[in-house]
Amino acid sequence: MTLPEDLVEKLGSARRVAVLTGAGFSAESGVPTFRDARTGLWARYRPEDLATPEAFARDPRSVWEWYAWRRDLIAKTQPHAGHRALLEMSRRVPIFTLITQNVDGLHERSGCAGVIELHGNLMRARCTMGCGEAPIPAAPEILPPPCPRCGRPLRPDVVWFGECLPADAVARAREAAGVCDVFLSVGTSTLVHPAGALPDAALEAGAAVLEVNPGETPFSRRATWSLRGKAGAVLPLLVDRIWKPTTQGRGDD
Ligand code: OAD
Repeated sequence: MTLPEDLVEKLGSARRVAVLTGAGFSAESGVPTFRDARTGLWARYRPEDLATPEAFARDPRSVWEWYAWRRDLIAKTQPHAGHRALLEMSRRVPIFTLITQNVDGLHERSGCAGVIELHGNLMRARCTMGCGEAPIPAAPEILPPPCPRCGRPLRPDVVWFGECLPADAVARAREAAGVCDVFLSVGTSTLVHPAGALPDAALEAGAAVLEVNPGETPFSRRATWSLRGKAGAVLPLLVDRIWKPTTQGRGDD
């Protein structure tokens, strides 16, 4: 893939960079996306049965078991070259903000600190009555397991459809999109708001926006650059070209 020269220049000299990632970012680690027509979770399951407060009130055990299945699947995965490229970028850019819609914790496992988790993290649980975070027992006797403080059911610490996103996370994400020089939208369909509106917010505030996605999204045509490729291939290429120019990108070696 040929990287646009103006992208290399702009990203290489940017003081503030914000990155939004979605399920496609984790796809190469083996975590299913939501909207892939064949393998996406929403092709096999109905969100209204599993990812709403009403579903949890109706059938808490099934909802807990579905998240436990996803938690087990994620525990077996590893960050990939794209996660490592973002970690490298975070060390090179003076002010770097990583915003994710993913609930798998893979960015944190790759070593990134201060990740803004817009949709929570399914490796955590919290009390349905507001006691706060609680450890997930390895082999719970009751599903959902009870809160160790008040005995009421625990729930996955994720945002369900119909629920508000954590206000501080949204505020920090909007702030980062509003002040960055370059914004990257990687592995997201941009269909779910408010996260999906961040690339446009960055554009409107004057940032240049790069989209990395093997497919087209509703945002693609407005992106400053739209690179059609996988996160695990494109990001290492970009990072190596900008920050390790002696080992990569010479074309003659
Ligand atoms: P989607 O499943 O909607 O979109 C995944 C995007 O990743 C698609 O545009 C794919 O083309 C792209 N993609 C697939 N493989 C890729 C790869 N290797 N590299 C880069 N891109 C790739 O996932 P999200 O946009 O994250 O919310 O979905 C947003 C939210 O909808 C999720 O956080 C979740 C879901 O319902 C909640 O559960 C609240």
